[in-house]
Amino acid sequence: MQDDVFFDQLADRFSDKIYGSTKGRLRLAVQQDAISQLPSFSSQAWRVLEIGGGLGHLSEWLAQNGHQVLMTEPSEKMVAAAKQRLQLTSVDVQQASYQSLSVEQHGQFEMVTVCAVLEWLADPQAALKRAYELTAPGGYLVVMAYNRDAQRMTRFLNGTGVQSLLDRPGNGRCMMPTTLFSASDLRGWLEALGGNVIDWRGIRCINDWIPDLPFEEILQIETAINQEEPWRSLARYQHIIVRK
Ligand SMILES: C[S@@+](CC[C@H](N)C(=O)[O-])C[C@H]1O[C@@H](n2cnc3c(N)ncnc32)[C@H](O)[C@@H]1O
Repeated sequence: MQDDVFFDQLADRFSDKIYGSTKGRLRLAVQQDAISQLPSFSSQAWRVLEIGGGLGHLSEWLAQNGHQVLMTEPSEKMVAAAKQRLQLTSVDVQQASYQSLSVEQHGQFEMVTVCAVLEWLADPQAALKRAYELTAPGGYLVVMAYNRDAQRMTRFLNGTGVQSLLDRPGNGRCMMPTTLFSASDLRGWLEALGGNVIDWRGIRCINDWIPDLPFEEILQIETAINQEEPWRSLARYQHIIVRK
């Protein structure tokens, strides 16, 4: 079984490929739109835990909105870069894997986020279970994960034919996730935890299939379709919020 992929070797590529491009802007815009619509997001200061926070883009925005954020991340290189990026913010950055987080040590949080992490783990369901334990009753678990079916779609369109039905996980040395699962797998795992799915959107429903357009135009299109089928379930990432 492939181990969890800590981003020590992938830190630079991640920064350039995702946050240096429309993909990163779009990802953050959709996350922010979904999270900012939650009741009391703007009126209360929540304790928030980010698991696998990477360079801390989401944590930064959450702190700017008045929340008390603990950003955890196991990669030494990512932690160093996040501390540098977030030095003027109130975000508390700590080096930790999800396996080392516990209710006994950290308490529970009004919001726990696990974004673009599950697809790099040997056991994504174990991580979801831990994240849910760390979510306070009435709190929110925010999950974003890579969609196996978007990979299939790319391969169909590239002419890979029936071979496209065979998943091609990455080997941990490139930006292709190492654990592939579908939108319905993810929903099933979340529903099994017992909370209510209150928001479900796709990220990059159509962006990857159309020529470059001005960012505002892409965002307008994505926002119009990202909560509708079939667009949502074919999007590159799934973004789901569960209320505990
Ligand atoms: C694709 S990055 C996503 C970073 C950030 N959440 C974002 O969306 O920008 C995946 C992150 O998961 C982290 N990761 C890998 N294994 C982990 C584990 N066992 N516990 C917590 N995070 C882990 C990696 O080090 C990496 O920084």
